[in-house]
Amino acid sequence: MKVDLYNRDFLKLLDYTSEEIRYLLDLAKDFKKKKKQGIAHRYLEGKNVALLFEKTSTRTRCSFEVASYDLGMNVSFIDSKSSQMGAKESIKDTARVLSRLYDGIEYRGFSQEIVETLALYSSVPVWNGLTDEFHPTQMLADLLTIEEKLSRLDGVSLTYMGDARNNMGNSLMIASAKMGLNFTACAPSSLFPSPALVEEAKKIAAKSGGSVTLEEDPAEAVKNADVIYTDIWVSMGESDDVWENRIKLLYPYQVNSSLFAKAKDDAIFMHCLPSFHNRETRIGNDIASRFGINEMEVTDEIFESERSVVFDEAENRMHTIKAVMYATMKKN
Ligand code: CP
Ligand code: NVA
Repeated sequence: MKVDLYNRDFLKLLDYTSEEIRYLLDLAKDFKKKKKQGIAHRYLEGKNVALLFEKTSTRTRCSFEVASYDLGMNVSFIDSKSSQMGAKESIKDTARVLSRLYDGIEYRGFSQEIVETLALYSSVPVWNGLTDEFHPTQMLADLLTIEEKLSRLDGVSLTYMGDARNNMGNSLMIASAKMGLNFTACAPSSLFPSPALVEEAKKIAAKSGGSVTLEEDPAEAVKNADVIYTDIWVSMGESDDVWENRIKLLYPYQVNSSLFAKAKDDAIFMHCLPSFHNRETRIGNDIASRFGINEMEVTDEIFESERSVVFDEAENRMHTIKAVMYATMKKN
């Protein structure tokens, strides 16, 4: 059956079938080719999109902006400090106002419930640019990158090291389950994804031929890995006070050369970014002075190695976000 995503929201991969995800990946590949060949694709000329950010961003914001410009659209960037959103105007009212002015709305912020409410009251497509629970546009970029590097998704073993109950752990588990990857979350059990979501992911994986495993032992978790993935140890919106405990819990799960030596010889390293792999950031430097560690979730050696595909991944954010906007805004 032909995939038609016109007017759909893009809030989490749980809402999308494997066929629909496949369609978005193929569309992104096509847009990437066109961009590289300098072939114009201003298919949404004159449309307007609103980009709502209650948390900071480099990749997601810039990807939505550049993808919009490439498609011939105009964008407004709106944050909670300089708009009425949140403080003086509810999400429900914001959704109804912005739907009268714009043809699509991106939202990055706190609970998944907020983006779901925004979508419920919006008459135009809403795209999730990251919530505490999910980061679905990042998933498309990651799947595209894996396919480009390993020439397949089916049967790829992906091990996620770190805080596996955050947006990235949850999303990678669902994305893997949908697309037939073997997903392993490696963390202390207190940082495993919620049992309900794990159950759901296992049911999905049973249909796709993938698998979902929770593992506390790093050596065991990476022994068959094609992809080793990690994320920062403390996510946006969490209190500064959690750093000490999180470092204690996650230091044994750092991605470094001794861990990489236990994976497959051609395993690749992935990270959604930003990353604390040296002292060259304000927070990285502050943590180094407070806790005496110069590198956190990944060592600089692995981050800068030829196994690392993090900048391909970052570029693919734009091509895949373009596919999502196009597919949900363009009437066939
Ligand atoms: N990976 C990602 O979402 O990056 P930003 O926070 O810079 O958007
Ligand atoms: N888990 C991270 C992802 C950043 C892209 C965060 O939410 O801050």
